[in-house]
Amino acid sequence: MGARNRIEVMHGVNLDQLGRRDPSVYGGLTFDQLEQRIAAFARELGLITRFFQTNSETEFVEHLHRLDGLADAIVVNPGAWTHYAWSIRDALEIAALPTVEVHLSDVQRREAWRRVSVVSDLCLATVSGRGPDGYRDALTQLKEELDR
Ligand code: DQA
Repeated sequence: MGARNRIEVMHGVNLDQLGRRDPSVYGGLTFDQLEQRIAAFARELGLITRFFQTNSETEFVEHLHRLDGLADAIVVNPGAWTHYAWSIRDALEIAALPTVEVHLSDVQRREAWRRVSVVSDLCLATVSGRGPDGYRDALTQLKEELDR
């Protein structure tokens, strides 16, 4: 088998609006800047990234369905879908790839409804409240998993 190093970085609803969202919660980067930062982290680790963002739950689910054979692992920040979107949980289970869940903000220290994640038990790990550096943590964990 060839190197397993293809990481699908998937962002859900409203994350395209970074830069307009409260910087004291989500930091000051625009979404494009965040993706560039993640791509740079990945390059340092020898990982290949592909990026996907949508505000449509249907498109998000269908993208997960299409990953078979195209990605070795997933970094996912589903945004608010994290807290209630069972369709995304089911699609992630079908994708059956090593996944790390990331949140820019510290979801455990915000409103009670954000403390629930319908995807976390499918994930190798959840990284929350570390801002953009959380994506480096996620990529590092996935690299260790793929190299195993
Ligand atoms: C988020 C946290 C979610 O609660 C929120 O709905 C988001 C972003 C984060 O990255 O901190 O849209 O996933």
